[in-house]
Amino acid sequence: MQTIEQTLSAWMRESFTQAFPETTIHGISVVATNSEQFGDYQCNHAMAVAKLARKSPRQVAEVVLQHAGNHAAVERTEIAGPGFINIFIRREWLESALVLVDEDVRCGVPLVGHGKTVLLDYSSPNVAKPMHIGHIRSTVIGNALDRMHRFLGYHVLADNHLGDWGTQFGIMILGYRHYVNPDALSTEPVEELERVYVKSYERSRTDPAWLTFARQELVKLQAGDPENRELWQRFVELSLQEFDRIYRRLDVRFDLVRGESYYNQALPGVVDRLCSRGIARESEGATVAFLEEESLPPCIVRKSDGGYNYATTDLATIESRMSEFHPSKIVYVTDERQQLHFKQVFAIARRLGITADLQHIWFGLMRLPEGTFSTRQGNVIKLEKYLDEAETRALAVVQAGSPEMAPERQREVARAIGIGAVKYSDLSQNPQSVITFTWEKALSLEGNSAPYLQYAYARIASVQDKYRAQFPNTSLGHCVFRLEEAVERTLAIAIVRFPETVIKAAESYKPNILADYLYNLAATYSTFYQNVPFLKAPEGIRESRIRLCRVVANVLKQGLSLLGIETPERI
Ligand code: ARG
Repeated sequence: MQTIEQTLSAWMRESFTQAFPETTIHGISVVATNSEQFGDYQCNHAMAVAKLARKSPRQVAEVVLQHAGNHAAVERTEIAGPGFINIFIRREWLESALVLVDEDVRCGVPLVGHGKTVLLDYSSPNVAKPMHIGHIRSTVIGNALDRMHRFLGYHVLADNHLGDWGTQFGIMILGYRHYVNPDALSTEPVEELERVYVKSYERSRTDPAWLTFARQELVKLQAGDPENRELWQRFVELSLQEFDRIYRRLDVRFDLVRGESYYNQALPGVVDRLCSRGIARESEGATVAFLEEESLPPCIVRKSDGGYNYATTDLATIESRMSEFHPSKIVYVTDERQQLHFKQVFAIARRLGITADLQHIWFGLMRLPEGTFSTRQGNVIKLEKYLDEAETRALAVVQAGSPEMAPERQREVARAIGIGAVKYSDLSQNPQSVITFTWEKALSLEGNSAPYLQYAYARIASVQDKYRAQFPNTSLGHCVFRLEEAVERTLAIAIVRFPETVIKAAESYKPNILADYLYNLAATYSTFYQNVPFLKAPEGIRESRIRLCRVVANVLKQGLSLLGIETPERI
């Protein structure tokens, strides 16, 4: 199945080629318009071809349309302004397209991934430190990209690249030996590990002997000393237990959990290869890759003390992933502070001959109005407290809105709403913009929020229930769509745009494109619901409308699930 955008783009591409075989340009396509007065789709390429063909853009558009002839999906076309081709979709075609969406469990979304392997590196918190608010963005955005790519038929490998190796473990082990409080460790292990680390780190800055001991512990760990290995293993396990609790609450699963330590053995080989291929060389005792050609600062791949860097680990990781999984893309989701790191790593990987598409999807850090959370140290906010607070606040909303609901059910719905609100408030923004989180906005039932969409979904479900109660013997599957009112047509256009929206959101790594779409769909539905009669409409029209409701509900449910958001049937 093709999306309408794909269908119309192919039509325009062919018409341009026929009309101007010598001067056709690449990438001819159509775009969805924002306003129906410009048609449903628009093609804007006449201007570019006009220059090459030495004709006016309007003349180009005219010739193209002569060659285009009729298309089954198109009611009419017009040339607007300097040479835009506006395309209006035919009502009958829309009505039959709706049937296809309604009958398809995938809501018409094609499998464009063709089983290509995409490795997604996301969440990736550091061991012995509580996950901070930056990691929730990586987790939630990464997981939405994960779900969308899987749904599109990519073979996705979600890899949680834990920060479980590095010089901090010397300080950590020494600190643990001297400062750990066993009671605190059993109740809040990761917080205790962090406390121990901070204390030991501070001492290392004023006490040179302490620093020396810490280095010795690190050397022992790296040399495989059984006692230090065991301690390190313990830190990793305790941290993973806490991370897993959060992943379960967020319904996030990984195919691989390979920390930095997994690649430790491979580091010397990477540096050797970089040197033998002239990509890196000795400089002031260190081994450095100079990246002038890429206009990037030099990248140290082995320090003068023989230690390796974050970049070296990432290079070893790419090599390992390439040879084991042959991905066509590797996508990293981290905060904005790692942009230079990935530019350097990608540049070196290119020189090593890695051809996979490497993408760093970075996001701005989330801001919080001061004092919203109880635990706040620097930008470290305990994620579990944040999720607890979301559920508690959502419970108050549910209790106020549905006092008759059983308490057990209220809690279940509040969980879906609270977690949904946290995820959606993140996913509905452009990843690269700084977002300020407020509970009022996140849990709002009115604006662009998860609860608004979840309520919209539940309300649509209840319309269908009412219909079934009144007309138990009609099967909607046999009723045709009849798009009588303008708002029904608008809604139908929105529905059939779902497939191309999912593709665009996944391929541009912007879940907010899907979030905006869903919000717009729900808003259009609510105009529809408020302006046309449903159960009181004449037979036939009534069934068409109820069936339209059903399609909207299916698309909302599917779309929200691609963002990792649940849709309770009753709220
Ligand atoms: N552990 C890093 C952090 O917490 C993120 C790792 C991202 N992935 C990678 N392959 N470098 O900031």
